[in-house]
Amino acid sequence: DSSVSESDGSFHLHSGRKASAPPRTMMSGGDIAYLRTEMAQEDPSWKIFFEENPKPAHFDENVKLVQDFCQQAAMKKNRVALITSGGTTVPLEQNTVRFIDNFSAGTRGSASAEYFLEAGYLVIFLHRSKSLEPYFRHLVGKNIFDMIEVLPGNVTVGEKHQAELGKLAEKFQRQRCNLLMISFNTLSDYLWLLRAIAQKMQILGPLALLYLAAAVSDFYIPTSQMPCHKIQSSGGPLSLSLQLVPKMLAPLVTLWAPNAFIISFKLETNETLLETKSKESLHKYHHHVVIGNLLHSRKVYVVLVDSKNPNAEEIRLSNSDVESGIEIESKIVDNLKSRHDQYYANHKTG
Ligand code: PMT
Repeated sequence: DSSVSESDGSFHLHSGRKASAPPRTMMSGGDIAYLRTEMAQEDPSWKIFFEENPKPAHFDENVKLVQDFCQQAAMKKNRVALITSGGTTVPLEQNTVRFIDNFSAGTRGSASAEYFLEAGYLVIFLHRSKSLEPYFRHLVGKNIFDMIEVLPGNVTVGEKHQAELGKLAEKFQRQRCNLLMISFNTLSDYLWLLRAIAQKMQILGPLALLYLAAAVSDFYIPTSQMPCHKIQSSGGPLSLSLQLVPKMLAPLVTLWAPNAFIISFKLETNETLLETKSKESLHKYHHHVVIGNLLHSRKVYVVLVDSKNPNAEEIRLSNSDVESGIEIESKIVDNLKSRHDQYYANHKTG
């Protein structure tokens, strides 16, 4: 989540609207879905964002890669998971020297990508440039020069690292064709790419799964209000005024990926709010699962809420799980795969 509190920043997509809906008791599920789509379509805030903020560099090439990846998958009836990972930046200058960042190392996303691949999914990994990546994350913090042995005319992996590196390299080689890596830096890059990827995934219908683990800023400075050059300290103390970012989950769920199975994350720091805030998010956007996590326990505890069960489901790692190297993402992905199986089966029969 962004470092500024959400309570003062909550953005009401539909505030001020006079809904011309029939009385609540007379509306069917279909009417409600239709109304939500209409409201997202009419609401200008997310459209204005894309009008005001230019698309990122290499956008068209990246979208073409995604299109080809999804077309191949659709032909083979493969499932595809879009995993978003890492934090978005909000630049303060057009020629950016300074920026505001959102917290996320990319552990959740990169670990989950490996488990989705192992579960048979193809994965589009939309990640913050230089944040943790699937497979490579296991090498972060290790010194490569401690792992190799250099003899005259011959460089090899040291004996004590051979098993570990060999296993990792084998897994990576097996999955590399199933993994499409797309990177972003800024909030605007991320939102442009999220929309385009979701739209290209429509070809997959219910075979598509969106797993939104990226930490997305709620506040930003529109390009037109950003100074072109580095802000000078000779101008004295700096006051910033940030605009609210429209909540993109609304058009994502109704317009860009209407048939995909969509999971979002909710990050909180106060445990007493976790379940309530996760349920609020689900009721607001009507997607499929919200996974709540707390900043300090996110590696061992999450809570899953969906619209069918009034009670939240918990996943908690025990000390012995942690000691034996089990990662919570393996259990999250197992759980979501069963839910996606059910969703896919219902879609085919419904
Ligand atoms: O990478 P790690 O260090 O392992 O950390 C993982 C994590 C804690 C970052 C991850 O598990 C997590 O909780 N990610 C979501 C954090 C977040 O940004 O929550 P939020 O309350 O701001 O957003 C909730 C949902 O709304 C998200 O799905 C987000 O994509 C969406 N959103 C947010 C802003 C915005 N303008 N539009 C949106 O649709």
